[in-house]
Amino acid sequence: MTLRIGMIGTGGFSRKHAGHLTAMDGVKVQAICGTKLEKAEKMAVDFEGAAAYSEVKEMLDKERLDAVYICVPPMAHGEIELDLIDRRIPFLVEKPLGVDKGTVERIHERLKQQPLITSVGYHFRYAPSAEVLKTHLGDATIGLISGQWMGDMPEVPWWRKQEGSGGQFMEQTTHIVDLMRYIAGEVTEVYASYANRVNHKKFEGVTVADVGTVNLKLESGAVASLSNVCILPSGVDRVGMTVYTDQTIIDWQPEAVTVTGKEGTAAEALQKKDPYVLESEAFLHAVRTGDASGILSDYKDAYKTHLVTWAALTSAQTGSAVKLS
Ligand SMILES: NC(=O)c1ccc[n+]([C@@H]2O[C@H](COP(=O)([O-])OP(=O)(O)OC[C@H]3O[C@@H](n4cnc5c(N)ncnc54)[C@H](O)[C@@H]3O)[C@@H](O)[C@H]2O)c1
Repeated sequence: MTLRIGMIGTGGFSRKHAGHLTAMDGVKVQAICGTKLEKAEKMAVDFEGAAAYSEVKEMLDKERLDAVYICVPPMAHGEIELDLIDRRIPFLVEKPLGVDKGTVERIHERLKQQPLITSVGYHFRYAPSAEVLKTHLGDATIGLISGQWMGDMPEVPWWRKQEGSGGQFMEQTTHIVDLMRYIAGEVTEVYASYANRVNHKKFEGVTVADVGTVNLKLESGAVASLSNVCILPSGVDRVGMTVYTDQTIIDWQPEAVTVTGKEGTAAEALQKKDPYVLESEAFLHAVRTGDASGILSDYKDAYKTHLVTWAALTSAQTGSAVKLS
């Protein structure tokens, strides 16, 4: 049976996912919804036979979709997810889940009442490097994790606005927060300092902080420090985390893992698999068979990552540590 997929959003990431879907057997990009019909029609040209819409409800009324990919900016979440839950249509939603707490909480609550197959775009969980990191951790005791997302400011206009993206920690560094939760467990307390150093002087309308550092306490007793900047020149970046255990130092980057032990430092061989493709395959398998065990990040789990990034923003705004129950 061919799965009929609807895409919401016509930007870079909708196109990326749609490209992967088109290359898969038994999957069809059936319909595309943009904020303007022309944008959806333009994208539909590249995905043969896809119908174009400018209203989500209209697309859902007219098409029989097996699943939907939600690839909209962080501030545009809410009604889309609730509509899909009401209509029992499984969805893969890109991170972050939103820019506030209330909207995400509402969707999370509704999913508790009306369970549905969901997947959230925390693709690092599917990366071969994450699997190697997990394997190497084994039964070692994690003492401290030091992570970072250091880069430039993305060009999409919504990103630089606090109410558009939620800021760098919520929008980007959330990937590192999520991977940390995946390998080291839940966060119990967060203390954050953010500042505006460069971007508000260089670019129009920047309201997001451009540097920040967040200290976290974990349920296990481990501690972590995750930092980010978006002030670097394009192409100068550093994304990753270092895990210090009672046995080794493990340096993780999306496509590289090195382990330092008593014998020295060794780079791990990694399989060449695209985590975005693995993420989609796991989701579509769940839609086809009902077996969601391959989905490594669903809404319920990603909700906890969102709470951590929300707590960090709250802490940076109030100057106080925020406890998570
Ligand atoms: N997982 C990853 O590695 C990764 C990488 C890049 C982007 N993303 C995420 O994907 C999402 C989209 O990012 P992008 O780079 O494609 O952004 P983009 O700005 O290129 O595209 C966003 C699209 O959403 C549409 N849109 C805007 N408001 C809308 C609304 N209210 N309702 C419906 N559609 C609306 C826009 O018209 C545009 O087509 C973001 O949440 C981003 O964080 C994830």
